[in-house]
Amino acid sequence: MAFVASSGFLGSKRGVNVKRSTCSLRMTLTRVDTNVTVNDSGNVKSIPADSDVDLRRNLLENGVDVYTLGQKLMNCGGNGACGLCRVKVTAGLENMNERTPKEDFLLNKMGADSNIRLACRTMIDGPVSIETKPKI
Ligand code: FES
Repeated sequence: MAFVASSGFLGSKRGVNVKRSTCSLRMTLTRVDTNVTVNDSGNVKSIPADSDVDLRRNLLENGVDVYTLGQKLMNCGGNGACGLCRVKVTAGLENMNERTPKEDFLLNKMGADSNIRLACRTMIDGPVSIETKPKI
């Protein structure tokens, strides 16, 4: 298990205060314990992921566009209400939590296949592969 900050700083705890001479810098560290292979509109890359936070947050913190341009303005901010953070799971479904009842209701209402998940309701505990912005 390793911890990294966006600046590349290595540490051992979250929320470490780093003081330099006269200024104080608060850094939030992200635990990296698995990875996600992302196919974002044909651009495939692997990103580190923290199993303590949801998939949406892992994607956004690693610069992955979860939403289309219009959806960026209309999404619910990760509350599981809009259904716009859909991802298609292409591998590693067994490394994800089960759909929550609310997620299941919303995705069934949209007619989504069982491999479609709401990134904001999905926790991962192992490597997974996904496609962003899938068509339903
Ligand atoms: S961000 Fe709205 S359902 Fe995930």
